[in-house]
Amino acid sequence: MSEVLSAKGIDLLYGETSAVSNAQISLHRGEVAAITGQSGSGKSSLLYCLAGVLPVTRGEIHFEGRSFGDLDDEELSALRRERFGFVFQYGELLPELTVEENTALPLRLAGRRKADALAAAGEVLGRLGLADLCGRRPSQVSGGQSQRVAVARSLVHKPAVVFADEPTGSLDSGNAVAVLEEFLTLARSQGTAVVLVTHDAQVAARADTRYIMCDGMLRPHGEEAS
Ligand SMILES: Nc1ncnc2c1ncn2[C@@H]1O[C@H](COP(=O)(O)OP(=O)(O)OP(=O)(O)O)[C@@H](O)[C@H]1O
Ligand SMILES: [Mg+2]
Repeated sequence: MSEVLSAKGIDLLYGETSAVSNAQISLHRGEVAAITGQSGSGKSSLLYCLAGVLPVTRGEIHFEGRSFGDLDDEELSALRRERFGFVFQYGELLPELTVEENTALPLRLAGRRKADALAAAGEVLGRLGLADLCGRRPSQVSGGQSQRVAVARSLVHKPAVVFADEPTGSLDSGNAVAVLEEFLTLARSQGTAVVLVTHDAQVAARADTRYIMCDGMLRPHGEEAS
């Protein structure tokens, strides 16, 4: 397996508050890494650093062998747009766009023609069992369906890595696992790696690699008591 993303010795400070402390992680093509930990432990902060959204205070992050520190703002934003996908807790679809248009958004932002982008969106929606919802607006679908649409949108441009912050956070545990299974099956089938932040142990158990975040420190699952 080839390494896509690695972070070494990363710290993130918000003023005096240390949100991430000396974190290290290595992610390979198609690998699913789950991060659990208490509220306020720094999970979202770490995710945003790894995604190149927040600049680190110390340490280095490499994507496909290139350091974030060597990229200018434009290169970093192109990287985020074209090679990364994102899923947030409440789906966060744009209300004025249909399900299909929402899903096509990453391709449209990357400059793909509308007809091609919609065709690709329709295909991913079909794979997630959402073909019937293509023409609806987000207000016309259920919570679980809108999270599935957010998952489709994060994968439509076949990114190298999807960063998912509580992607099933508003679902009950049974539905959370079902949505997650579909998400991970599709990601693995296209070689997309996933960094998954979750409170749900059942969801985390579906990952290849597990980490626990505690007071800004990231540890492999099972070593948290050391
Ligand atoms: N913009 C900010 N400015 C200052 N402090 C912040 C900011 N964002 C987060 N923090 C602090 O950084 C720490 C880590 O926050 P973070 O949001 O990463 O936690 P989390 O593990 O994602 O929590 P949750 O499970 O509740 O989402 C917390 O102490 C939080 O209060
Ligand atoms: Mg968070």
